[in-house]
Amino acid sequence: ASIPLATVWEGQILPGGITTPEKMKAMQDMVFDENDIVIVSYPKSGTTWVSEVLSAIAYGGDTERLKKIRLDERVPWMEMDYRCLDPNSPAQSSAKGPIREGKKQIWFTHLHLDYLPPSVREGKCKIVYVARNPKDNAVSYFHFHRLTTFMGLQKDMKWNDYFPLFCSGDICVGNWFKHTLDYWKFSQNNPNAKFVVYEDLKRDLMGEMKSLEEFVGISLTVDQRTEVVKHCSFDSMKNNKMTNKEGLVLFDHGETKFMRKGIVGDWKNYFTVAQNEAFDELYKKKMEGSGLNFEFE
Ligand code: A3P
Repeated sequence: ASIPLATVWEGQILPGGITTPEKMKAMQDMVFDENDIVIVSYPKSGTTWVSEVLSAIAYGGDTERLKKIRLDERVPWMEMDYRCLDPNSPAQSSAKGPIREGKKQIWFTHLHLDYLPPSVREGKCKIVYVARNPKDNAVSYFHFHRLTTFMGLQKDMKWNDYFPLFCSGDICVGNWFKHTLDYWKFSQNNPNAKFVVYEDLKRDLMGEMKSLEEFVGISLTVDQRTEVVKHCSFDSMKNNKMTNKEGLVLFDHGETKFMRKGIVGDWKNYFTVAQNEAFDELYKKKMEGSGLNFEFE
């Protein structure tokens, strides 16, 4: 109840109390280099999953060590002002996070392309963008609002009230279409950016991992990769206290879980026929000519 509702910074709605104007300002001065890997995503597209996979790659596939360090320590949230957890922490400073593995530091952010720190946008580090089909993304995001109030919506909000907000983008982090399409264009022919899709991870995690390894320049053995794929399965991450976010004071896991279902197609349990038709039309209009298409089943 003490967590403030959303923060508004330069016209964007951002998580309240977690992202502060001071932190947003300080972040613009942070300098990223070739040893940084920044995971960017619209919330609920598989950020946590890709964070664990990339962290496992940076840790050379050592899953035993991964199980001893919380994911949020290994992969800090770039725009988070850590004073919301500890008032004495120097969160508004531009210092880099302390946990590096080898030389690599992995971060995640939900910021739109225009708001990335200049050195990230200019390609000084690697960017991995994670996208998910927007129907499942919407359902997952709807449930996420039931875990916390820092997204600025009522926890008991109904799906029918949430759906139009997702379509218009009048929610924390804004419009899914703009977020995804801007990064899609950005990642085309950009050797420092990789576009990863949730549905592809579900279909072939092993193959996607190999291509992520290549992208960040670290290569695991077949045995290590097999072990990481097991370690990063939904069930294994759901039961892993270092990845399931159950201990985090920011979330109330009473009604739903952060690691909720982890499937493709759950939207069918929520979208009415009319909502689905309206969404298909919106999707067609927004995505037309982009060359990007998602699987919904
Ligand atoms: P659901 O709510 O549909 O279950 P993010 O990390 O971007 O917040 O995304 C969270 C979503 O990714 C949740 O979706 C969560 O269950 C799913 N997820 C997390 N880890 C996963 C895994 N290992 N396999 C499949 N889905 C996973």
